[in-house]
Amino acid sequence: DLKDNTIIVVFGASGDLAKKKTLPALFGLYRQGFLPRDCKIVGYARTKMDREEFHKRATSYIKNSDNNPDLANSIEAFKESLTYVHGGYEDDESFEELNKHLEEIESHYQSKECNRIFYLALPPSVFIPVAKNTKLHCYVTKGGVNRIIIEKPFGKDLQSARELLGAVKQYWTEDETFRIDHYLGKEMVKNLLVLRFANIAMGAAWDKNSISNVQITFKEPFGTEGRGGYFDEFGIIRDVLQNHLLQVLSILTMERPVSFSAEDIRDEKVKVLRSIPPIERSDTLLGQYVSANGKPGYLDDETVPPNSVCPTFAATTLWINNPRWEGVPFILKAGKALNEAKVEVRIQFKDVTQGIFKDIARNELVIRIQPSEAVYLKLNTKTPGLYTRAIPTEMDLTYKRRFTEAKIPEAYEALILNALRGDHSNFVRHDELDVAWKIFTPILHWIDGLEGPRPRPVPYPYGSRGPKEMDAYTAKYGYKRATEA
Ligand code: BG6
Repeated sequence: DLKDNTIIVVFGASGDLAKKKTLPALFGLYRQGFLPRDCKIVGYARTKMDREEFHKRATSYIKNSDNNPDLANSIEAFKESLTYVHGGYEDDESFEELNKHLEEIESHYQSKECNRIFYLALPPSVFIPVAKNTKLHCYVTKGGVNRIIIEKPFGKDLQSARELLGAVKQYWTEDETFRIDHYLGKEMVKNLLVLRFANIAMGAAWDKNSISNVQITFKEPFGTEGRGGYFDEFGIIRDVLQNHLLQVLSILTMERPVSFSAEDIRDEKVKVLRSIPPIERSDTLLGQYVSANGKPGYLDDETVPPNSVCPTFAATTLWINNPRWEGVPFILKAGKALNEAKVEVRIQFKDVTQGIFKDIARNELVIRIQPSEAVYLKLNTKTPGLYTRAIPTEMDLTYKRRFTEAKIPEAYEALILNALRGDHSNFVRHDELDVAWKIFTPILHWIDGLEGPRPRPVPYPYGSRGPKEMDAYTAKYGYKRATEA
């Protein structure tokens, strides 16, 4: 745990990720008293700007909608800890300059043991030079701790990921490296471990004997709007399924770790992921949104190449070859420009044996990751009254109602705090990433056209539930809508 004498360098400080996520999360930690004492934050980017301009940008995403004076004071105090350095990412001189700036800050610290955290909010094209240059020019050797935080995309397929990781590993050890998948910082994703392993009732029904199918769904109500250049190169599978949804799947299905330690948890995640064969084309449905409801289609985005066949929606089904999960379909689906914002896990249990009751709805356990965090269990209950009939109802643990005072932390706050504490549990280990790419690489190569003509995604209207083929798709894997049961 880093208690003091710590500098956090945010590379890409003028970019979107830093402005929207990293810097507001650092402020959140500062305000709640979780940053090390006297912690300084150094923004670094190519853009030339003075400290004042940087302060303005750095705090532009911190909301103070009700003009709370206490919050305004905290923002002012936070600014005091922020400085800015501009420079390139590839040349030695820029990093020597940065190092001088860091040493100057450190000369005011009492102890000479200083810690440096390097947060790369950067595009992948400069990951490697920055990993190298920070190690060569800015690494402290006088007993302090050095850590590097990096964020996806970690390559585009198995081979490029291995190259990227391999290059970073030349300079930074696994112990010093923190690979962010921000879904691992989300409250309800962290809750999965507790739900599963602190409840005997859950554990008992957590296998192929009780569960029919599982859906992990990500829905966003907006398109790529202006981000099409990046998106078109990656597509929805690399953007959301291969990382965020697969992470959720691994925690949902892994065996009980021996302990709560980072390595024990990640050992179990890797083990279950290794039991998943590469995805089949026949298990995959691809879609692309088209203009509707006054909203532009994907191809209308100026940053998207004309005639792109990049999927903005994908549903695919994974199978786990182990005794617990054999034969249970795990449907991962994600789409942009849909009718709502929602991320959830839906576990549908098998039918009860027919006999005393007929045609009753299946139990479902839903874990809503966002918005409005909740866990609810659909179960059948007797209608109150003088006759016996089973009706579907819900046992509902909606956080807003149950934990009225609780503040749900931002994912990035939770993760940066973990990194400051040296806790790797919620970061992606190199072998975890490797096996994730093994599962997805064949399907991605097919989609990229490396194995013949590129598949054409089916169109779906902006603002809809997704491709009209979707309901038949989930039904094929055994999902029964309540009304059909
Ligand atoms: C990012 C993707 O990793 O996750 C984005 O690149 C997506 O396309 C975002 O919008 C979703 O994150 P959240 O936290 O808003 O669900």
